[in-house]
Amino acid sequence: MSMKISVVGTGYLGVTHAACMAELGFEVIGVDVDPHKVRMLSEGHLPFHEPGLGELLRTHVESGRLRFTTDYEQIAEWADVHFIGVGTPQRNDGHGADMRYVDAAVIELATRIRGKALIVGKSTVPVGTARRLHGLIAATADPQADITLAWNPEFLREGYAVRDTMTPDRLVLGCEEAGSEAILRQVYARALDAGTPVIVTDFETAELVKVAANAFLATKISFINSFAEITETIGGDITVLADALGHDARIGRKFLNAGVGFGGGCLPKDIRALQARTSELGLTHTMGFLAEVDEINLRRRERVVRLSHAMLQDQLVGARVAVLGVSFKPDSDDVRDSPALDIAVRLFNAGADVLVYDPEGNKNAAERFPRLFYANDLAEAVANADLVLLLTEWAEFKALVPADLEQLVAARRLIDGRNVLSRSQWEEAGWEIVGMGQHY
Ligand code: UGA
Repeated sequence: MSMKISVVGTGYLGVTHAACMAELGFEVIGVDVDPHKVRMLSEGHLPFHEPGLGELLRTHVESGRLRFTTDYEQIAEWADVHFIGVGTPQRNDGHGADMRYVDAAVIELATRIRGKALIVGKSTVPVGTARRLHGLIAATADPQADITLAWNPEFLREGYAVRDTMTPDRLVLGCEEAGSEAILRQVYARALDAGTPVIVTDFETAELVKVAANAFLATKISFINSFAEITETIGGDITVLADALGHDARIGRKFLNAGVGFGGGCLPKDIRALQARTSELGLTHTMGFLAEVDEINLRRRERVVRLSHAMLQDQLVGARVAVLGVSFKPDSDDVRDSPALDIAVRLFNAGADVLVYDPEGNKNAAERFPRLFYANDLAEAVANADLVLLLTEWAEFKALVPADLEQLVAARRLIDGRNVLSRSQWEEAGWEIVGMGQHY
């Protein structure tokens, strides 16, 4: 008999996981407390932009293999395996993770399951959570129920969510209870058969792999951005430096792109949550370097604002500034903690006339900051601009050549916040172009 799977939480992680599980041939029900989202998903509409996921969702909703509900009753007894993929946002009162949704999901399930089931945590959580949830399940579950818990962190990137889920770099299975590893090996049989490395470990290690990976990536980005601050001051080419460093296989070239810094719903909040958690554990200094990583990252935004003032000879008030890109990275409409959007808002607050264009992110950005002007296309955004900022490296921006813009703008000034354009090509066409890490 085929395994039945529920996925609790239909955000980025949940919908991707649910659709990919259906693609693997399982019967899947996604659960969410938000009836509007459930209705959209049930009709096959993806509520966010993610390449390839919309098609997968539609295919499996149509085939009937993938359904969505708001009703825990419908899934608690039905599914053999329950994946928890709800959010763990930054808490309002500080930097720790808000565990309210994870706890609620586990209690909703534990109090309803009567038979045998495996609950699998996928959300990014503070270390120690799985062991605490294990206690919570024991305290709230029906004495007849046979519930086991496992921790299986998710490493997918936005923009590559389907690929990362179907063919992950590795699988981490925090399995301490009898039977849970065998079930997860069955769930992930296709990836395992294809040779995906698997790490079977305890709860704490499984939880830590996830936060350590994100902390490492954030550190790598801030590391190169700290060198950008040096080259901005004394000269030198940050991209050449990154290329040269990257040839050392121990370092690697990936995540060494200097720019406006990291954003999104994961890296910034995860490094803050890790600091908060280690402090709770009495390790006040252990993750202290992540405070620096965060600060270096936020200084990138100031750098672009200062550069804008300088390039406009301090005539920012009333200047028309075109902002290309507001999502936190290309191929995503996600504007959570987006450096690009933050810069656009700072320039607006400083008195600039800001025109924003993002191929997918305008709508989400407009919900957060309705006072910015959102252009329908690139030409509208750059029309009569005194300064153009390229802040998110969408393919359509990377492909820009001077001739695309020069008849439209008022002045040939450009900040390349992602170092994706050829400086010499633009300079030859009479542009003043400044990249990240460049002395100005
Ligand atoms: C990140 C991790 O890469 C995933 O492995 C992880 O599963 C996910 O968080 C999560 O915890 O859910 P994601 O937030 O989708 O994925 O984005 P990344 O591709 O990691 O990019 C993060 C930010 O770093 C972006 O703003 C990007 O523009 C920036 N970045 C990336 C740089 O500034 N420089 C680089 O060289 C690379």
